[in-house]
Amino acid sequence: MFENLDLQKAEPIILGIESSCDETAAAVIRGRKILSDEIASSASIQAEFGGVVPEIASRAHTDEIARVVERAVKNAGITYEDIDAVAVTYGAGLLGALLVGVSFAKAFAYALNKPLIAVNHIRGHLAAAYLDAPELKPPFVTLLASGGHTAILYAKSESEFEILGATLDDAAGEAFDKVARVLGLKYPGGPNIERCAKEGEANVPMPKMLKGGGGYNFSYSGLKTAVINYCHTKEQKGEEYSKADVACSFQRAAVDVLVEKTVAAAKEKGVDTVTAGGGVAANGYLRESLAKACKKGKLKLVLPEKRYCTDNAAMIASEGLVQYRLGNFADMTLTAKASIPLAATLETVQSRAAKAKET
Ligand code: KG4
Ligand code: ZN
Repeated sequence: MFENLDLQKAEPIILGIESSCDETAAAVIRGRKILSDEIASSASIQAEFGGVVPEIASRAHTDEIARVVERAVKNAGITYEDIDAVAVTYGAGLLGALLVGVSFAKAFAYALNKPLIAVNHIRGHLAAAYLDAPELKPPFVTLLASGGHTAILYAKSESEFEILGATLDDAAGEAFDKVARVLGLKYPGGPNIERCAKEGEANVPMPKMLKGGGGYNFSYSGLKTAVINYCHTKEQKGEEYSKADVACSFQRAAVDVLVEKTVAAAKEKGVDTVTAGGGVAANGYLRESLAKACKKGKLKLVLPEKRYCTDNAAMIASEGLVQYRLGNFADMTLTAKASIPLAATLETVQSRAAKAKET
């Protein structure tokens, strides 16, 4: 199927669909240009439960998906016929939630006789850097900081990555979410920590273990425990403490190590460009610090806009474009996957031509 497609077509139109967590999203890109980007979120309903309830997320996706896709196509100013391929997140994420997007995309691609592309959510976060950035070309060093993964990667090409360093325990986003809970801040934790930190000062001592050593690896469990212990000790002693100061101190410690190690890795690799992706890359303090450090290190920084760091479908379409160029299409046996280890996520995606040679 689709053997005669022109994979090198100048600006393919890709429809991206994302439903791995609590956001039902669809977007259309032409080449790297975003034509439309629609999101319906159940986050406000989830906030009442203090986190994502999978069943609620699945139901919300089912309710919204057809409307969201229709809106994305309409707002892109294209017709269904104009679409060159349908890219959908197949993992990792909540199984029921993913299945809604995958089933919809399969039916949609089949009905329109368009190629289907299976996108790994984390590869989508990495490909967000290419959106509206026609000049961005590998090699570069990229900081992946999401809710489930945190790593510093060397992007050899659009489809080949090498892990330079990674968290030894919790992901950065996970640490933000856990600390938010300890401070009594609502879900989602990251943006609420950022807001709270603006009112405070970084005067609460944080563990030094994150700095230096360990190559480009880092650890968040010590930092998280330090914050929990600080708050619990204060509470047990009946002493007042400033949540804003704790949030500010934590945010600084959590972000500084990422910025420092990303820039050091870029220098060692001899690249001239740094990118970042994942929900934590939407953090204002991280963005400012990374910009300052890159400027000092004479490195070019390509940061996706904040809304393309958190979950969205434009990033899925962007990775879809990478796969389209490789002719890497899925068939109707595609199914959802709840978890995919980082190593498997970053496996080199072979082009259709290379695969054909092997068999
Ligand atoms: O990248 P993402 O969608 O997660 C995965 O795909 O795994 O991002 C979600 C994570 C959450 O942990 C959330 O708290 C964090 O990103 N996050 C932030 C901010 N916005 C989202 N963390 C810090 N500051 C923010 N502004
Ligand atoms: Zn995500």
